[in-house]
Amino acid sequence: MKGLILSGGKGTRLYPLTYTSAKQLIPVANKPILFRVIEAIRDAGIEDIGIVVGDTAEEIKTAVGRGGRWDVDVTYIHQDNPLGLAHAVKVSRDFLEDEPFVMFLGDNVIQGGIGDLVEQFRRSEWNSQIVLTRVEHPERYGVAELNGEGRVVHLVEKPSEPPSDLALVGIYMFDRYVHQAVDSITPSWRGELEITDAIQWLVENDFQVYPYVHRGWWIDTGEPNELLTANGLVLDDLTPRIEGYVDRDSEVDGRVTLEKGAEIINSVVRGPSIIGERTRIVNSYVGPFTAIYHDVEIEGSEIERAIVLEDSVIRDIPARIQDSLIGRSVHLVRSPMKPKAYKLTLGDHSQVGIL
Ligand code: DAU
Repeated sequence: MKGLILSGGKGTRLYPLTYTSAKQLIPVANKPILFRVIEAIRDAGIEDIGIVVGDTAEEIKTAVGRGGRWDVDVTYIHQDNPLGLAHAVKVSRDFLEDEPFVMFLGDNVIQGGIGDLVEQFRRSEWNSQIVLTRVEHPERYGVAELNGEGRVVHLVEKPSEPPSDLALVGIYMFDRYVHQAVDSITPSWRGELEITDAIQWLVENDFQVYPYVHRGWWIDTGEPNELLTANGLVLDDLTPRIEGYVDRDSEVDGRVTLEKGAEIINSVVRGPSIIGERTRIVNSYVGPFTAIYHDVEIEGSEIERAIVLEDSVIRDIPARIQDSLIGRSVHLVRSPMKPKAYKLTLGDHSQVGIL
């Protein structure tokens, strides 16, 4: 069996963070989402992995390489334009050959891995296995309708009137018949070749599509708040470890992970949270559900339920920073210079909430 990770697309809903970088490389609990996806596939016993890449190909290739770090073999597949998930399958035809495969969207984070799912599919005669979960806002996802016997009867992409609350999780398993399906469908109203339409085609042509209802948590990290939620859930499941330094005047609770070279000086850190390599927390408070990445400096400030990316500096901020996503090399500092005013250099689509 092979693995196919979809890591193309533009990530417009995460602007400005994704102007300059791939959304799949944003770290959740200090590990890029894409790395978590590779690990989930590897842990399901799959070593041959194709990654579909688009505009951000170079950045993804630099971060992932040939896959040696995970003991997997990575092949890159170029998709010139993000023309849909089924289109991504089409361009991967040579890599996939006629083998069954698991397709995993590179921006999805799921609890508990996919080992059992993949094993179930391997042992079955099904042509496809889809993963469903109950959600509050099904209109934001692909939605499945099952009949009384639990079989898939209908699938629809982001419907304004959802037929059920069962969303399609971004993990799909297929055998070779999916290639016939993706060649048979036409673009949707949004101009994309939809994987939901391809699966609907399988259902209508009497292929076996098995729905698996996932009960743990699952997050599609398309938007900032979803990233923060995913970050909190992964932190909650993390086994804490202390590889950094805590001085005597600091208080660090049992659910905090300190990575190599992290330093906590005269500060309070409450978990679940993680402090990255060489990051310094000085005279500050870091609250639960916070992930501070590598080489960050936080001094004289308070921060909670947030993600801070590498090389950023936060200093002497008078109010607590909360529910926030802070990009790379951001300087958020209180300045003594007159006039007393907010001095901002913000990228397009930045969002700032001021007291
Ligand atoms: O996350 C689950 C949802 O994912 C499903 O419920 C939907 O049925 C499915 O269509 C998909 O919806 P999204 O609108 O969230 O998909 P998005 O455009 O965000 O793309 C998902 C991933 O696939 C992302 O990592 C980018 C990549 N991608 C996307 C497209 C459209 C590609 O590599 N190529 C593409 O052409």
